[in-house]
Amino acid sequence: MNIKKPLLSALLVLWGLAAPSALLAQTPAEPAASAASAAAPAASAAAPDTSASAPAAKPAAAPVPAGMGTEYTAKGADTCIECHDADSDTETFTMAGVFKNRHGHRGDARAPFGKGGLQCEACHGPGARHSANKSNKKLTVNNFRANSFLSVPERNAPCVACHQDPARNAWHVGAHDRNQVACTDCHQLHTGKDPVRVTSTQPDVCLACHKQERIDFQKASSHPVRFGKMACSDCHNAHGSTSVAMLNKPTVNQTCFECHAEKRGPMLWEHAPVVEDCTTCHTVHGSVRPALLTKSPPMLCQQCHSPAGHPSVARTGAALPGNGGAGSIFVVAGSCTNCHTQVHGSNHPAGAKLLR
Ligand code: HEC
Ligand code: HEC
Ligand code: HEC
Ligand code: HEC
Ligand code: HEC
Ligand code: HEC
Ligand code: HEC
Ligand code: HEC
Ligand code: HEC
Ligand code: HEC
Repeated sequence: MNIKKPLLSALLVLWGLAAPSALLAQTPAEPAASAASAAAPAASAAAPDTSASAPAAKPAAAPVPAGMGTEYTAKGADTCIECHDADSDTETFTMAGVFKNRHGHRGDARAPFGKGGLQCEACHGPGARHSANKSNKKLTVNNFRANSFLSVPERNAPCVACHQDPARNAWHVGAHDRNQVACTDCHQLHTGKDPVRVTSTQPDVCLACHKQERIDFQKASSHPVRFGKMACSDCHNAHGSTSVAMLNKPTVNQTCFECHAEKRGPMLWEHAPVVEDCTTCHTVHGSVRPALLTKSPPMLCQQCHSPAGHPSVARTGAALPGNGGAGSIFVVAGSCTNCHTQVHGSNHPAGAKLLR
């Protein structure tokens, strides 16, 4: 779609991007051998140290070895756009898409396209070498993809450098960083609608890797993730956290209380396992039993409570309807919860046995 190239250029000119030279050093882009002499803009706080000596010059014909170099282009985005028009448009990628999210905000000095920003190269790395050389386009720039010549930490570096905020301060202790998951395994940045940040489309991003969870959320009882009503990030911080399973809150129970506040209490008559950990009785993602239970009563309760001493009848198959018995209240329907309705604790003065 070549029609988009002039449109994009016009857009950039309108936004004043045609003249980043006011902010960037004036050295014009040169052929491969001397591209390294273009100076990086000193104005940008995000600019890496460019005082390191330039890479050695190569004869023009020899293939340029892999590596980004240390030099930035003189004209920033304008140079990139000369070659990169909208040809590679897909559903989640357009060249101009980067202007549809916060990175394209010109008024935000912290953003790549803010005053003094490195524009495209804030993310893709110093681009003078890539722009000038003819022989090695693929191995001279950070493409953020799994096929990159850069390691995962190297690909993440520009993102981590700008995003040092509380939401991500546990990134390095989280399971994702420890297991070489890249920021861009989840995030799409050349779009105004990053699927991982939209409740209804986020699960598909996560479930591409988390197969067991894909199964669990299809079970009869589950949190309504498959209906697009809830996302993994309602409970988890994908950027890592210091609690179990990278939960948003320090404990499992505090995570649940975010939405199930009525289970928090305080209760006059507490039930010990409820106070301790909801996952004693519930699987959180999905279960084939009602109410996300790990087991069905009476077995659920009898993991801890002995049937001995209880005013009860035999809890065997004989008590089931059709087996000769009329159906014991200890076995059918909610079993124990037929009478002990307040399993989560009771505030009734006479609720000691969780009966009311
Ligand atoms: C002289 C033309 C030219 C300029 C200027 C240029 N590129 Fe490229 N770029 C290319 C070509 C050609 C490719 C390879 C495309 C392919 O083979 O799919 C490429 C590939 C890329 C890739 C993908 C690399 C990969 O491994 O898949 C990225 C990212 C990229 N360029 C970013 C930039 C940025 C950012 C700038 C500005 C600093 C820039 N380019 C300037 C021509 C250019
Ligand atoms: C905020 C960081 C960021 C900025 C700024 C940015 N990009 Fe990208 N770019 C990415 C990421 C991440 C990808 C990987 C694909 C994706 O996210 O959709 C990418 C992919 C690309 C690709 C490769 C597409 C492919 O098919 O492999 C090109 C080319 C590219 N960007 C060029 C540019 C140009 C030109 C600019 C400036 C106008 C720019 N980028 C600005 C983050 C950025
Ligand atoms: C030059 C600094 C800079 C770089 C590099 C950068 N970001 Fe950002 N990013 C920002 C700023 C500033 C915002 C605005 C949000 C804010 O106020 O915190 C932002 C916003 C975002 C958002 C939210 C987008 C929106 O529209 O609300 C995501 C997601 C994000 N960045 C991911 C990344 C990833 C992944 C990378 C690496 C490919 C990256 N960023 C690289 C500065 C940067
Ligand atoms: C495993 C997937 C995943 C990875 C990897 C990931 N993110 Fe995110 N990111 C998310 C999700 C999900 C959200 C939305 C969170 C929400 O809505 O509460 C998000 C939101 C964001 C936001 C915007 C909202 C905010 O919290 O400020 C930024 C910025 C961001 N991520 C940056 C990064 C950076 C930088 C990295 C790499 C260090 C990264 N992300 C790695 C999944 C991921
Ligand atoms: C690129 C693959 C990939 C994607 C996408 C991904 N993860 Fe992961 N995730 C992993 C790997 C690898 C681990 C570590 C091994 C494991 O526990 O399976 C992990 C671990 C986890 C853990 C366990 C943490 C712990 O401490 O035990 C949680 C929770 C998690 N991911 C949530 C998410 C969420 C939420 C998303 C989407 C926003 C997501 N993941 C997207 C690969 C991925
Ligand atoms: C209602 C809250 C909630 C939602 C929604 C949720 N999780 Fe979890 N997840 C948890 C809790 C709590 C645990 C810890 C379970 C435990 O301690 O046994 C957990 C554990 C995990 C683990 C680690 C499992 C293990 O075996 O160690 C992964 C991976 C995970 N979740 C991925 C996801 C993904 C992917 C999604 C979205 C599709 C998601 N979760 C949605 C609450 C939630
Ligand atoms: C972000 C909000 C949110 C959080 C956090 C949350 N839940 Fe839920 N929970 C829901 C919603 C919504 C439903 C579905 C209610 C419905 O279908 O009527 C639900 C339903 C349930 C059910 C009943 C399921 C059924 O099939 O009847 C149980 C049990 C449950 N949650 C336990 C937990 C536990 C345990 C935690 C903590 C690990 C937790 N929830 C965290 C929102 C949440
Ligand atoms: C001792 C086992 C046990 C523990 C621990 C437990 N639950 Fe339950 N929960 C049950 C049973 C049994 C049911 C089904 C109740 C019924 O059939 O009336 C249930 C039902 C639910 C429901 C759906 C019906 C309702 O009452 O809203 C939610 C939500 C729920 N539990 C949340 C939690 C939360 C949150 C925690 C942790 C604070 C927790 N549960 C701890 C046994 C437990
Ligand atoms: C993980 C173990 C565990 C599970 C599972 C469990 N309980 Fe409990 N329950 C306890 C503990 C511990 C106490 C406190 C006993 C005490 O204070 O002497 C308790 C107390 C009670 C009490 C009050 C007893 C009294 O003497 O005050 C009742 C009633 C009760 N549980 C019923 C149930 C029912 C019904 C279920 C199944 C839905 C169940 N429990 C599941 C551990 C468990
Ligand atoms: C038909 C109603 C009913 C059913 C069904 C029932 N209970 Fe009870 N349960 C009671 C009553 C009534 C008490 C109080 C007895 C008392 O105060 O002496 C009680 C007391 C208890 C106590 C406290 C025992 C004690 O010595 O103080 C526990 C624990 C208990 N039940 C667990 C269970 C479990 C586990 C089940 C399922 C296997 C169950 N109950 C099913 C009515 C029932």
